[in-house]
Amino acid sequence: MRSVRSWSAALLVAFAATNCAAHAADEAAIKGALDAAFAKYKDLQEGKNADYIPALAEVDPNVYGIALITVDGEVYVKGDVSTEVSIQSISKVFTMAKVMEESGPEALRDNMGVDATGQVFNSIVAIEQYKGAEMNALVNAGAITATSMVQGKTYDEIWGKILGYYRDFAGRDLTVLEDVYESEAATNQRNQAIAHLMYAYGKIEEEPVRATDIYTKQCSVGVNAKDLAVMAATLANGGKNPVTGKKVLSSEHVPEVLAVMATAGLYDDSGKWLYRTGLPAKSGVGGGIIAVSPGKFGIAVISPPLDAAGNSVRAQNAIADISNAIGGNPYAVTPK
Ligand code: DON
Repeated sequence: MRSVRSWSAALLVAFAATNCAAHAADEAAIKGALDAAFAKYKDLQEGKNADYIPALAEVDPNVYGIALITVDGEVYVKGDVSTEVSIQSISKVFTMAKVMEESGPEALRDNMGVDATGQVFNSIVAIEQYKGAEMNALVNAGAITATSMVQGKTYDEIWGKILGYYRDFAGRDLTVLEDVYESEAATNQRNQAIAHLMYAYGKIEEEPVRATDIYTKQCSVGVNAKDLAVMAATLANGGKNPVTGKKVLSSEHVPEVLAVMATAGLYDDSGKWLYRTGLPAKSGVGGGIIAVSPGKFGIAVISPPLDAAGNSVRAQNAIADISNAIGGNPYAVTPK
């Protein structure tokens, strides 16, 4: 008769073999989903590069890269994952997270708010409607305000903190794309007006010009699809970077960050996006989108041509297909 010890050894071996087989199947499913989405949308010609920031119109519209990183730190990539584009509005997520870390989530809720505006991302009507409240840190007015809330005495101190925080999320040093920064700084009169309005309503407490400039710089940070996927995967993994192992954001604040992303990450198309995928996400006019499947994976796609709401067309399609193929929707549950 077999001893208990040899039974348990046999069970362990069988369990490990099952696990390995399941892992290989997962791996094949993820690779297959990336390959299929890449091929399906490669020749899609919908959308147009942003051009209200002149440097963005010059970016190659054919750049197209997909990266998915699991909470175990496994990396899957397809297409161009080395070309950097400017992070643009995706940066707003990480500055918002920094403010949450420093001042608590109520600081954001009680200042600009955590609600959808139903307006375009740089709406002035949305500011006027509730005197700078009842919005969120992912639209321009709320984002410039969030940047103004990062603690620090000098421009350099605040900027250093912001860039350092993005670096911890991405797991590598990031730098500003100077041509994008100069181009946006020369044409950001609307954001300057927005910042002054938020100052007039007491939401920005001081130095609206400095806040706008730091915000412009944070939007010009260069990232590739893999960087963005690591940043998203850090949110998927409860605030711990699954590639470097560094804890970047308190786990208790991750749900609050994801809630604002779900509410407003794709601006006035956020509802449509959530209906389609269930994923908290964030877009940028540089052509990137990140999305988070909590406890599972972070995914990012870069492709510069945008739809009318300012969201990358290929990125939306590719992320939706991949996530739906591998069970990324957190609201989808198999009945017991
Ligand atoms: O402030 C702006 O207009 C840009 N720096 C960022 C806008 C943006 O990325 C909107 N995203 N879809």
